[in-house]
Order: sequence, then structure tokens, then C-alpha cells
Amino acid sequence: MRVTISRKAHFNAAHRLYRKDWSDEKNDAVFGKCNNPNFHGHNYELIVSVTGAINPETGYVMDIKDLAQLIYEEVEQPFDHKNLNLDVPEFENLNPTAENIVVVIWDKLRAKIASDKDLEVMLYETPRNFVTYRGN
Ligand code: NI
Repeated sequence: MRVTISRKAHFNAAHRLYRKDWSDEKNDAVFGKCNNPNFHGHNYELIVSVTGAINPETGYVMDIKDLAQLIYEEVEQPFDHKNLNLDVPEFENLNPTAENIVVVIWDKLRAKIASDKDLEVMLYETPRNFVTYRGN
């Protein structure tokens, strides 16, 4: 019997999508508005889900307070009110698309969550655009 627990979180951040090795024309053609040289922001919403067996002693899969604290330390603190391109080392040479952001977040959380549990991260860049990563 495996149960999934989920926690929502939120951060505001700025980014710019572009490749240094492409011309301005090509960056514009591929990334459009998201290639604005002066950056732009998103209100990112996050749903982190952990699946595992219920601990018979506590009745928990994982203490959701611990999950909330982990998301705070690994995601909210380093990303909130930051410029992802300039302030977050993971994106120094990685285009901060929703796809790449969700993988970075998953990797950071995976390292801190017991290996007998499965992890899924959903990241909303806008209310209608979102990505999901499960580590495969
Ligand atoms: Ni954008």
C-alpha cells in the first residue's frame, strides 16, 4: 500500500530564455517574448508529491512539515525573488525553461528524500502552462 502526499509551494522569479551561442534573430525566432533582454517574471507554482508506504508507527508516509521545510530550503529560499539566469548558479549555463527548472528542483529534492520513496514535481509557469518530472 503506497500513498502519495503532496505539498504546494510558490516562488516569484525572473528569467530570460536564450542561448549565448545563437544569434539574436535565432533566439527571437525560437524563444519569442521569453527572450526579452531585460528579463520578465513568472509566479511559479509548485506541487511536490512523495509516494511511499505508510509508516505503521506514525501513520505518515513522510512528515509533511519536513517536506514543507525541505521545499523552503531547496526551492523557495534560493529561487524566490531571484533572477534565475543571474542569481541561481544552476542556470548559469542552463536555459531556465520550465522543463529545465523542474529537473533542477527534482534533483535538489531527490537528494534529500529517502530513496524508498518516489518523487514527482509539477511546476506551473502560468496557470495554464505546466511541466512534470518524475526522474525518468
Ligand atoms: Ni518566461
